[in-house]
Amino acid sequence: ENPTLPLNDGKSIPQLGFGVWRLEEDDAPKVVGAAIDAGYRHIDTAQGYDNEAGVGRAIAEASVGREELFITSKLRNGHQGYDSALRSLDESLARLQLDYLDLFLIHWPAPQHDRYADTWRAFVEAQKAGKVRSIGVSNFLPQHIQRIIDETGVTPAVNQLELHPAYQQRDIREWHRSHDIQIECYSPLGGKDSKLLDNEVIGRIAETHGKSPAQVIIRWHLQQNLIVLPKSSKPERAKDNFDVWNFVLSGEEVRRIDALDRPDGKTLPQPEDNNELF
Ligand code: A2P
Repeated sequence: ENPTLPLNDGKSIPQLGFGVWRLEEDDAPKVVGAAIDAGYRHIDTAQGYDNEAGVGRAIAEASVGREELFITSKLRNGHQGYDSALRSLDESLARLQLDYLDLFLIHWPAPQHDRYADTWRAFVEAQKAGKVRSIGVSNFLPQHIQRIIDETGVTPAVNQLELHPAYQQRDIREWHRSHDIQIECYSPLGGKDSKLLDNEVIGRIAETHGKSPAQVIIRWHLQQNLIVLPKSSKPERAKDNFDVWNFVLSGEEVRRIDALDRPDGKTLPQPEDNNELF
C-alpha cells in the first residue's frame, strides 16, 4: 500500500500522487485535506495553477506531519532565469507555508526563451541550499534534458509528462529508463474530457475486477513503474483513485490496454510549443 519509487539522488517518491491542476484556490484546503485523509501523501501543484496558498492551508491543517508528505511545485514559465527562479521559489515556499519542497520542477522548457539551462543552474543551487530536496523538469524532450546534463552534470530526478493509455510514449520511456530519470504521468486518466474512462476495453477489465475504469487505468500506470498523478475536484473520486492496492491486472489485461496507444492521443500542447498555459 502506497509504494515509493527511488530517485537518482537517493531520495524516494510516493508512486501515486494527487494532482491539483484546475483546483480553485478556495476549494483547495477542503479537497486536498480530504485527499490526505484518504491516504495520499504526495501532492502535485504548480505556481501556474494559482492555488499554492490553498494547498499550503491544507498542509498546515493536515492530519499528518510535514515529514510524511511529499510536496511538489513547478516554476512558472515567466519566472525562468537564474535570479528570478530563486526568488520565485522563495515566494512559492511562503505561499505554501513550507521551509522546503520535496520536488521543484521547471514546468515547461520554453525553448524559444532559451532560459531553461540557466534556470536549471538555479535549481541545482536551491537543492544545495536545502530549499528543495529533489529537482526535476516537466514537458522536456530528451534533447532539452541532454542539454542541461551536459551543461551542469546534474541529471533531473523526474520528468513530468502527459502519459495515459491513449498516449503511452514508449520510446520516450525507454530513453528515461536508460538515463535513470523517473517519469511522472499527468492527465493519467486521459485529461479533462477523457474518452478513456468510457473505453470498452477498460470498462470490461474494470467489471472483471469489480473496480472502476479510473482505478484500472491507475493500476496500469503503477504496474509499469510510472509515477501517476490523477486529479479530481470531487473528494469521493479522489478517494476511489487511491483505492487501487487490492487488485492486480494480469499480463493479458495489461497487453489489451497497451493496444489502446494512438498516435494522436495527446491532448495538451507539445513541449516545443511556447504555450501560455503556465
Ligand atoms: P473531476 O474533477 O470532475 O472529477 P486526469 O486529468 O487526472 O486524467 O483526470 C481527468 C478527469 O477525470 C478529471 O478532470 C476528473 O474530473 C475526472 N475524474 C477523476 N477521477 C475520476 C473517477 N474516479 N471517475 C470518473 N472521473 C474521474
